[in-house]
Order: sequence, then C-alpha cells, then structure tokens
Amino acid sequence: MSCSITLKNISYKNENRQLFSNVSLNVGHEEKVAVVGANGAGKSTLLKIIAGLQYSYNGELELFHNKISSKKEYKEFRSDVGYLPQDVNDYFLCPVVIEDVMFNLRAKGIKKEEAYHKAVLMLEELGISHLKNRVIYELSGGEQKIVALAGILITKPKILLLDEPTNALDSNAEEKIINILNSIKKSMIIVSHHKSFIEKLAPSVYKLNENGLEKI
Ligand SMILES: Nc1ncnc2c1ncn2[C@@H]1O[C@H](COP(=O)(O)OP(=O)(O)OP(=O)(O)O)[C@@H](O)[C@H]1O
Ligand SMILES: [Mg+2]
Repeated sequence: MSCSITLKNISYKNENRQLFSNVSLNVGHEEKVAVVGANGAGKSTLLKIIAGLQYSYNGELELFHNKISSKKEYKEFRSDVGYLPQDVNDYFLCPVVIEDVMFNLRAKGIKKEEAYHKAVLMLEELGISHLKNRVIYELSGGEQKIVALAGILITKPKILLLDEPTNALDSNAEEKIINILNSIKKSMIIVSHHKSFIEKLAPSVYKLNENGLEKI
C-alpha cells in the first residue's frame, strides 16, 4: 500500500509522565483516519509530532515513505501538510479574514490578484463569504475555526491533520465541514470527540491510549 503517513512505535514522554508508547499507524493514499481518546490522552501531541512541531519523541515518522527525524528533514514536506490546531487563537497571521486566507498563497509567491480571487472562492466554498472583511479577533470561536480551515485548504496540502475541526461549530457549520471533508480526496488524520461527525466521514477509527492506538 502507498502510505502518506507511517508511524512506527512512537512514544512520547512529557516532563511529568509517559503519555503514550507503541503508537504505530499507516495512513494510506487518500485514506481518512480518525483518532479518538480521553482528554489528556495525547491526541493533540501526536498530531503535533506528525505536523513537525514536536521532535522530542522516540520511534519513527515517515511521510511518503521518507523517514523524518529532524526539523531540517521535515522542511521538504512542510508544504504538503496542512495542520489545523485545536486552538486557533494564536494561529492567524493577518488581522482581516481575506488577508489571512490569502497569506499562505502570497507566501508561495502567488500574485495578489490571483491569491485574492482564490481566497474569495475558498470563502464561498466554506460558506463564510460574509466574514470576508471582518477582523479575525472579533469573530466567534466557530467562525475562527472555519477561517483557519480556509487558510489551510487554499494551499492544497496532500495531507490534512485536523485537531477537533468541529469542536466550536453549530450543526449547520458541522454539516458543511462534513460535506467538504468528504469531497476532498486526501490523506487525513482527524482528531474528534464528535461521534456523529466521525460516523458521517466514515474513516478508520483508532483510540489512543497509553499503550498505543487501538482500532475500534
Ligand atoms: N505545552 C504543554 N506543557 C505541558 N504539558 C502539556 C502541554 N501540552 C499538553 N500538555 C499535557 O500533555 C497531556 C496530553 O495533552 P494533549 O493536548 O495532547 O491531550 P489531548 O488528548 O489532545 O486532550 P484533549 O482531548 O483535552 O484535547 C496533558 O496531560 C496535557 O496537560
Ligand atoms: Mg487535544
């Protein structure tokens, strides 16, 4: 099987305790995997490891069959990975919605007019055109979450790592995100506590506990 993400016996210990050991997983090309587990089990920590934001783990991480063990090695793959953090508060780089959604395209050297046009389309697709000129820090938590998702999807990463993408969303917004994620053919790891959300995406579901990932 062609794997986008491979984890081999990953273990992680923070300053207080061993969070998890023996975490092994293969996420195939365009496969959707959900990770569930108790509060504090280490789901967000695991996503940060895969997102290249945490390196003090043991075990092996591979992206597209390339072993990655340092920030330097990760660099080549960073633009392939779209990571939505659980808390998007500190995530935004521009004060206004449309500017922030355009930002990653501008950073890739795409011209302003084209980036603007693509950002407008992205906002339309996610049903948040009305937020286009709003100041991000004056938006609700759920609105901020969808804006953050727009900023990720617009760069068309090959892998999506989504940490509780619907935790602050109302049922309409959740339905919209389900439809969008269902229509996207990418490898995804989705952390969520929302059973109905996971069921509608129909991914493989794993529970994270201290001894690894258990398929449920
Ligand atoms: N920056 C940090 N400094 C110290 N401890 C941390 C830090 N971030 C997380 N932790 C601790 O690591 C453990 C795992 O946290 P993590 O956020 O990965 O859990 P989680 O499974 O995502 O939980 P939740 O379902 O509540 O989001 C928790 O006990 C948490 O208190
Ligand atoms: Mg978490």
